[in-house]
Amino acid sequence: MSDTSRLRLGVNIDHVATVRNARGGDYPDPLRAAKIAEAAGADGITAHLREDRRHISDKDIDGLMEVLSVPLNFEMAATQEMQQIALRHKPHAVCIVPERREERTTEGGLEVAREENQLAHFIAPLRDAGCRVSIFIAADQRQIEAAHRIGAEVIELHTGAYCDAHAEGRFEERDAHLEALREMSAFAHGLGLEVHAGHGLNYETVQPVAAFPEVMELNIGHFLIGESIFRGLEPAVLEMRRLMDEARAE
Ligand code: PXP
Repeated sequence: MSDTSRLRLGVNIDHVATVRNARGGDYPDPLRAAKIAEAAGADGITAHLREDRRHISDKDIDGLMEVLSVPLNFEMAATQEMQQIALRHKPHAVCIVPERREERTTEGGLEVAREENQLAHFIAPLRDAGCRVSIFIAADQRQIEAAHRIGAEVIELHTGAYCDAHAEGRFEERDAHLEALREMSAFAHGLGLEVHAGHGLNYETVQPVAAFPEVMELNIGHFLIGESIFRGLEPAVLEMRRLMDEARAE
């Protein structure tokens, strides 16, 4: 089992592409953002190629595969089109996420338990191609057991509900979500799964999750890209790294 001391930070650069696409040109370039994040200590870059291509484009994925020195975590829906793209690029990691066209962001975790056979067939060629397959799920024992059964090596726990409850001042609910994340991180780790977490994390919410010893990687995007407007991307990433290390050291 992997070393539990070092918590990795994956920086999600999707929303650099959101800003670029608002004007339809080439600026700002997500590849440039990825290189800055890398220089600031990101351990990986995460990008979600959505079916509707609302932010990251196919060309961005080509470019990221070419320029990155750190691993690319390619987030994608479980569709044939995305599987073909992943098999062509063979990124270090593939994270399977649910996708609905009308949603603003990835709203829930994947229903692995309901689609077990289908997903097992879907991820097998990705694993055979050497990609580490991660499944984005809620902190729910049934989903974790199903992810384990289908042969995923990694699960990423959805921290969105925890972060939303914090932002909206529903603190009892927030603490209950945090407790579920804590218990389910330990449960998944006990099954031999590598545990990642992400969605909605910011400077206020990152530390309690970073403190779980079983969590090996956090994937953070929207807040960091937003914060970079005010302090620049490099300082924004450095501060996140500092908070993660501080939480881990305690
Ligand atoms: N992890 C997964 C699986 C995601 O789908 C996303 C959003 O694309 C993130 C992490 C990052 O979430 P956020 O942009 O809210 O930090």
